[in-house]
Amino acid sequence: MHRARVFVQRNYSRRYWLLFSLLIAANMTVHAAGFPQPSPGLMPNPAKGKVLYNQNCASCHGADLKGSDKGPPFLHRVYEPSHHADLAFQLAVKNGSRAHHWQFGDMKPVPGLNPDDVAHMTTYVRSEQRKVGIK
Ligand code: HEC
Repeated sequence: MHRARVFVQRNYSRRYWLLFSLLIAANMTVHAAGFPQPSPGLMPNPAKGKVLYNQNCASCHGADLKGSDKGPPFLHRVYEPSHHADLAFQLAVKNGSRAHHWQFGDMKPVPGLNPDDVAHMTTYVRSEQRKVGIK
């Protein structure tokens, strides 16, 4: 009886310890993976973002953000923040993106942009989305 209880308790605490370690390991992995992140304290600027967007993204996603024959529109519910968070923009620019929503093919990484540039562009896209009620 007594022995069984000790066993159960030990087993439990071991399990919690394992869970706890796993959580820490997962957390470290996320940081070590080095997700592209804008500088702390950056104030993303939509006007700056618009310029960068027009130079780097408009050829496919459209100068009016309505897409082209090479890429999808951002003024579309698929790209609302709850479905494609800002990190999706960082990752798409850095790593490219496999076609999965549309038939345009894959997006290649876009070189020459840092995470701050992407944050400016994302703010621009978000402000245009809000104008047409995509929130
Ligand atoms: C050569 C064409 C092209 C250019 C240039 C381009 N994209 Fe894309 N982009 C695509 C295509 C194609 C997709 C894939 C759509 C799909 O899911 O089928 C895509 C997808 C995306 C996605 C969605 C990723 C996801 O997680 O689903 C984001 C965000 C994105 N692009 C941002 C950008 C930004 C920001 C730029 C400019 C820095 C840019 N793209 C430049 C063609 C392009």
